[in-house]
Amino acid sequence: MRADLQLLLYVRGDVLTVTQRDGDSRSWWKDAVVYQIYPRSFNDSTGDGVGDLDGIYEKRTYLDDLGVDAVWLTPVYDSPLADYGYDIRDYRRVLDDYGTMDDWRRVRDGLHERDIRLIMDLVVNHTSDEHEWFQQSRREIDPYSDYYIWREGDDGPPNNWNSMFGGSAWTYDEVRGEYFLHLFDRKQPDLNWENPKVREDIYEMMRWWLEKDIDGFRMDVINLLSKPDGLPDGHPSTVVTGSEHFINGPRLEEYLWEMHDRVLSEYEIVTVGEMPGISVEDARRYVGDDGPLDMVFHFEHMRLDSGDEEDDPWDFRNWELTDLKETFTRWQEGLYPDSWNALYLNNHDQPRQVSRFGDDERYREESAKLLATFLHTLRGTPFIYQGEEIGMTNVPFEGVDDLRDVETIRYVERMLERDDVDNFEDISEAVLYGSRDNARTPMQWSDEDNAGFTTGDPWLTVNPNYPDINVEDARTDLNSIWHYYRQLIDLRADHQVLVDGQYQPLAVDHPQIYAYRRKNDDEQVLVVLNFSSERATFTPAEHIDATDAQLLVANYDVPQSVSLEDGLWQPYEARVYQLVE
Ligand code: NOJ
Repeated sequence: MRADLQLLLYVRGDVLTVTQRDGDSRSWWKDAVVYQIYPRSFNDSTGDGVGDLDGIYEKRTYLDDLGVDAVWLTPVYDSPLADYGYDIRDYRRVLDDYGTMDDWRRVRDGLHERDIRLIMDLVVNHTSDEHEWFQQSRREIDPYSDYYIWREGDDGPPNNWNSMFGGSAWTYDEVRGEYFLHLFDRKQPDLNWENPKVREDIYEMMRWWLEKDIDGFRMDVINLLSKPDGLPDGHPSTVVTGSEHFINGPRLEEYLWEMHDRVLSEYEIVTVGEMPGISVEDARRYVGDDGPLDMVFHFEHMRLDSGDEEDDPWDFRNWELTDLKETFTRWQEGLYPDSWNALYLNNHDQPRQVSRFGDDERYREESAKLLATFLHTLRGTPFIYQGEEIGMTNVPFEGVDDLRDVETIRYVERMLERDDVDNFEDISEAVLYGSRDNARTPMQWSDEDNAGFTTGDPWLTVNPNYPDINVEDARTDLNSIWHYYRQLIDLRADHQVLVDGQYQPLAVDHPQIYAYRRKNDDEQVLVVLNFSSERATFTPAEHIDATDAQLLVANYDVPQSVSLEDGLWQPYEARVYQLVE
């Protein structure tokens, strides 16, 4: 809690702590733009090739200049790094590579002094197998024996569930002589949420962080916590076998409400649930004015380019604009008016957005700005992933030795075992397109060695395009993607309709143009985006009076007086108009 805003109420000798923010009851996080930091790749202050907390502290003014309201820090906790921090060894300690708790406090204070909130990552579906709980559990030492999901299996794994990273979700542990469940890597055993002691320990850990005045949690795969009794086999599926059982499992809602009532409700914070496989209908139960959590990351738009080859999760195809519109429209309409979207087009688990949804060669600047316009003009809270604000792109990794991500490495290993795959080249196209490492290469600060990220050897290769794509150049050029992001952040702050106005799609079948109106009692805004590398024609329908429309922002240099009636749109052109009623 922030001490300056904290009220202490003494009730019959007990201390009841209540937070109050700026005297405003409106949820701050609805108006916020959040910036996601992947600490390992953000800024290295020591020269060891790894980003760190002091490095983030050094860049606090950068974040302030960009204008973001909150930072989401992906895990900085002690970890053996099998999944780069999503395998936590000690929840109450910062990884030595990143610094100390004092360094963490300095980051927090440096952000808070600039009115930037701090959202921490909460990873409680699993821990590292090096966590003390697991070490005790595998030796059947109480009270930890049942902290994880153990099963006997004389004839192999207890069921046919797959790990999200491929292969069986079960690994045999020699020490205990039983299998344990891991929905991710074998070094990430799943906690047994059925056990009330596990839940109590997790809640205590959450309180420990909340008392350190943090402003919220991004909750890792939070809809996977509950597994059904008997752990039944799953239908062999194209995605992940067993997922119909462990996505939104039977006790999920109960756990989230318990967490809410026992912990979250005592603090004025934001909670963002990462929920793979969630539908709009389910999301409405978990997030919103009447739900236990505040907002949701869903994955539907991340699957629009998935092919249908059953045994290759990285079989990609071209995505279609009409599918993108259909998906976003369903979520925009479905969560209105009581629930809230967390808006994103990329993050540390996804390819770079300009390479996936734009054109990272011929129209890199234009399409990066178009995607930014899209992100900032939808109903919800925009999340900017580090480097997106300068249009960082996917990376031409040369071979398997360049890769670090466990999901990618496991995929390559599995594919190389197949008869139809001889070598890395056979699958390199999919890897270069889909690998999470694309998003994890170091932040490109300047055209100095290693993009100014480190004076040492970077832990993951730097994208060779850094001499052309870097923060220093982007800040000097007033027409850059970076300055455009600043403009959009300001625009959103000035026009409440962009935050929570109702969304109404237009021209839904148009193959190139994505257009929509945002509307509240005071204002109406029209957004037109040419999502293609060809010119397009589009004029708003008759029911929209465009005659006196005021141009608010555009990614091409168009005169203020440009008429909507002209109807001609350049490749990746984006314009936002205020409509006069
Ligand atoms: C989602 C995280 O974003 C991802 O990086 C991680 O691998 C999995 N959850 C498992 O924690």
